[in-house]
Amino acid sequence: MASKSKPLIAVDKLTERQAKVELVRLALEIERHNEAYYNEDAPTISDAAYDELRRRSDAIEARFPGLVTKDSPSQKVGAAPSGKFRKVRHAVPMLSLDNAFAEQDVVDFVARIRRFLRLGDDETIVFSAEPKIDGLSMSLRYEGGDLVTAATRGDGAEGEDVTANIRTLKDVPHHLKGRGVPDVCEVRGEVYMTKAAFLALNERQKAAGDTVFANPRNSAAGSLRQKDPTITASRPLGFFAYAWGEMSAMPADTQSGMIAWFEHCGFKTNPLTRTCRSVEQLLAFHGEIESRRSHLDYDIDGVVYKVDRLDWQERLGFVSRTPRWAIAHKFPAERAITVLKDIEIQVGRTGALTPVGKLEPVGVGGVIVQNVTLHNPDYIKGVGGKGEVLREGRDIRIGDTVIVQRAGDVIPQIVDVVLDRRPKDAKPYHFPRTCPCHLHTEVVREEIAGGEEGARARCTGEFACPYQKIQHLMLFVSRRAFDIEGFGEKQIEYFFEQGWVKEPGDIFTLQARNDKLKLEQIEGYGATSVRNLFDAINERRTIGLDRFIYALGIRHVGETTALALARGYGSWEAFHDACLKVAAKDEAAMAEMDDIDQIGDTVIQAVAAYFGESHNRGIVERLTRHLTIVDAEKPKKDTAVAGKTVVFTGSLEKFTRDEAKAQAARLGAKVSGSVSKKTDYVVAGPGAGSKLAEAAKLGVTVLTEDEWLALIGGA
Ligand code: IVH
Repeated sequence: MASKSKPLIAVDKLTERQAKVELVRLALEIERHNEAYYNEDAPTISDAAYDELRRRSDAIEARFPGLVTKDSPSQKVGAAPSGKFRKVRHAVPMLSLDNAFAEQDVVDFVARIRRFLRLGDDETIVFSAEPKIDGLSMSLRYEGGDLVTAATRGDGAEGEDVTANIRTLKDVPHHLKGRGVPDVCEVRGEVYMTKAAFLALNERQKAAGDTVFANPRNSAAGSLRQKDPTITASRPLGFFAYAWGEMSAMPADTQSGMIAWFEHCGFKTNPLTRTCRSVEQLLAFHGEIESRRSHLDYDIDGVVYKVDRLDWQERLGFVSRTPRWAIAHKFPAERAITVLKDIEIQVGRTGALTPVGKLEPVGVGGVIVQNVTLHNPDYIKGVGGKGEVLREGRDIRIGDTVIVQRAGDVIPQIVDVVLDRRPKDAKPYHFPRTCPCHLHTEVVREEIAGGEEGARARCTGEFACPYQKIQHLMLFVSRRAFDIEGFGEKQIEYFFEQGWVKEPGDIFTLQARNDKLKLEQIEGYGATSVRNLFDAINERRTIGLDRFIYALGIRHVGETTALALARGYGSWEAFHDACLKVAAKDEAAMAEMDDIDQIGDTVIQAVAAYFGESHNRGIVERLTRHLTIVDAEKPKKDTAVAGKTVVFTGSLEKFTRDEAKAQAARLGAKVSGSVSKKTDYVVAGPGAGSKLAEAAKLGVTVLTEDEWLALIGGA
């Protein structure tokens, strides 16, 4: 530990400058130990020494909250690096639910079912109505009655094996009770932490100087993803069973019968579950549970209605990834009242100026909120138009008493201003006309594409604007781009401020410049951290073309677009040459880019703007000198599906939708989201709906997942 070599300055004696350096050092060191512990299973220090590092980092951040960044160790607690747990493929995918918000959505849901099953108005549909627990879904596999695997939902197709941790939950039987238990049973349900346990845990964490959790759901997730099951055991987690995956035999023929069977086997099921026989009863259930919500000892975010008869569920099937036989009727977002203390302007990577409201901290739905996005200048003026959540006729002023809303994981928003509490001297907010980057670059209005109303403010400084420069560097080193280990936002900010890294190419000359920079002499850095940093950088001198294109930070070029461009051109030389031509408005080059699947005018214009700037061309040129850019795999031309247009619909069982699409693209097929005359194949899984009908109408070939696999297998 570096702390052995030099006496540490007490946290309350640190200046802000020293604190910043110290946080960078601690982040690097913690990250290194995380890697050793989680991914190499070979911890290099004792748990106590590790905890000490984290405590110091947290204590410094508590003293200087302005120094907390997204990649600070405190923001990563419990979220294990990938690869911590073995992956488990679900025998039956874990799907999600469609949402209803208004009563009419519930009326429509029931009418849809009636139509689909061709039921007369006088025929009763029985529903199982259940609270929607706000926890983590879990699939428990029993073979011969014994618990063999517990897996998280993951992406629905593949989750993580958390069996050892789940075994510590008292609500999860290790062996199913009763006789005649089917040989294979996958019991699914929700792991949750009670509100009381969450508060008590946070008290303990606080007392020990550990990170506190934002809400019970996060603390349940953090507790489950522990490498050491004894830690999970010390956290009181509950489990409610409500669904199933693979079953070698069905012990009941209704949802309510299955719930009764779960209880019989030794599970807890939610005691508020009821059967309902009409829309009115469903809505009454929703109202009743909502009124009890704040008195319950666990978080719920709505109720779920499920058709009780399983033969009807079977007939109803799925539409894409949600069942037609169930719906989640959500509760309205929770609201709170507080005061807007200030408005700050943040400059994004693309120069967009986003106003952020600084609030008097307030609890909304179990989370402390102190920042809200104010979207754009028009929103603050109250002229954002339709689609905005702010009550019509309101503008937002510093000092206003505001109503804040938070819906699920959605970022909190201001929905109303309490006008009679507005301070007499509150003035309408004037949006800055120059960028806070102090280059005094002009801020321009830009209409927002894609139907959202209003106009965004944008700094015209591009990469000359230090905020945009630094944001680009952050994107450059991020996980999906260069993924330089131990070189996150905090380090970039620090190196940028010191003037050591001003543009991406500078990262790769750090080592050569270190004779002068002497990074190891920076307080607390140490020779080992510096060597590790150089190793991490050197490892990334070879990079795939798609990642490289993404890392350039061209507007509108996200990961998917970067991949499409990489596949379209194959090599960096071909892509770079095309970009320069596109920037020079060479029509043939533009047409060629337009021909690439998924690439259209917006991207072409963005590429032209980027490579039209000599400053950017210089950045790219100085960067590529240090790199080997690996060619992308070009789509194959000699496969059975090359050049064919394919649409996937319904749920796929052997792949996730993304995997299937990526595979099709690799084999040279074009993947489309809608069926048209140009479609060659529609690959339909269970629950396929309107796309299947459209295919039948147009006479397009429809394949099952297995037929598709046979087709490409022979390719
Ligand atoms: S049924 C095919 N029932 O909600 C759908 N889900 O949005 C199977 N959830 O991932 C899910 N309480 O984590 C079902 N009583 C309940 C639930 C419930 C909470 C969660 C679950 C699921 C999500 C779907």
